[in-house]
Amino acid sequence: MLVPMDATWDIEGIRSQYPALRDGTAYLDGAGGTQVPEAVIEAISAAHRSGLSNVHGPFASSRRSMKLIADAREAVADLIGGEAGGVVLGPNMTTLTYRLAGALAKTWEPGDEIVVTELDHDANIRPWVQAAASAGVTVRWARIDPQTTDLSAGQYAELVTSRTRLVAVAAASNLIGTITDVAKIAQIAHAAGALVYVDAVAAAPHLRLDMSSLGADLVAVSAYKWCGPHAGAVAASPELLETLRPDKLAPSSDEVPDRFELGTAGLANMAGIAAAVDHLANLVAGEGDRRQRLDRSFAALTVREDVMVRDTISRLTGIPGVRMIGAPTRRTGTICFSVGSLAPGQVASRLGEQDIAVWSGHAYAWELTRALGIRDTGGAIRASLAPYTTQSDLDRLVEAVAAMVVGGGQT
Ligand SMILES: Cc1ncc(COP(=O)(O)O)c(C=O)c1O
Repeated sequence: MLVPMDATWDIEGIRSQYPALRDGTAYLDGAGGTQVPEAVIEAISAAHRSGLSNVHGPFASSRRSMKLIADAREAVADLIGGEAGGVVLGPNMTTLTYRLAGALAKTWEPGDEIVVTELDHDANIRPWVQAAASAGVTVRWARIDPQTTDLSAGQYAELVTSRTRLVAVAAASNLIGTITDVAKIAQIAHAAGALVYVDAVAAAPHLRLDMSSLGADLVAVSAYKWCGPHAGAVAASPELLETLRPDKLAPSSDEVPDRFELGTAGLANMAGIAAAVDHLANLVAGEGDRRQRLDRSFAALTVREDVMVRDTISRLTGIPGVRMIGAPTRRTGTICFSVGSLAPGQVASRLGEQDIAVWSGHAYAWELTRALGIRDTGGAIRASLAPYTTQSDLDRLVEAVAAMVVGGGQT
């Protein structure tokens, strides 16, 4: 057992803020969705209690709704180092990515090219592939190294051409945790005049992100992966959004970023988004504005998760029959493995019976599970960390897997 010696991480103080954790479950399914702290629950409830109305009305409750939206944009901008005026909010990343793909595809010509990766969640592949098919655009694929599961940035020198209009790439894999070299990939894409769309859904819960140092033109995140409500956001510069004309209703706002947002927003959830970013900023005590506090929180979180993940991998690897899936050079707090001849779904069910929540299957990493040769055999088991994960959660996982092997999981 290994307890990270980080006095700044008040794990009990953090956990006490999450009502759901009181049920004793080891929630190791953060990559699928995290639990939410009381501050987020309260912010959403308080928004409802305060009285909310449709936006653009000449009365206080309508102004409150507009303020919630503005605050959510600010919060997302702080989380990913963007500009509030370029934050598009929506129900989830998938919906927003289809939306942006539709808008961007209107600027493409037949014979143009885009680059997607086999590492990504399907939400950062299929919307682009389908938009490309409609626009007569060629899709080129970045491949993973089958041994390490790294996505080499070097291959983009071949993949990107003068016809490339867009490079879509994840900042991190949702299944195996691989962190990609977005900055290098973006450098190559930009040299050819292509835009870079970064799926940061699996990275944002673990890493401090900064759009400009990543070289990302558009960045997508989902709040429910970082202790917030079920909502998504895509951030870009307002200037870039001004160049795009998404399909929209005639009377709806033509302003940026509003014109990318369809229908009525989940208004109370907007309060939850801002509260979640505040919560992340306050994980470690200290002074500073929200961006500075986020810097401090993520610096501590990254170190903590790194230590815990390394230790867990080394202990799981020591169990006969356990095979780690993916050995990336840099990884988030996400671990992927299989257990002997047991089907991943069977392992997850057995763990679930012991109140250890892990995911199993392809986790929508559809192309990746094919590339790894595990799609037809039930995918893999995924355990992922969140700010509230304890050493004891991981001990329970390792011990339960070890007991399973002794109980007949081995081939
Ligand atoms: C890396 C990644 N991208 C995209 C998505 C899709 O996000 P959403 O559920 O917000 O559409 C997920 C969801 O699991 C994900 O992990």
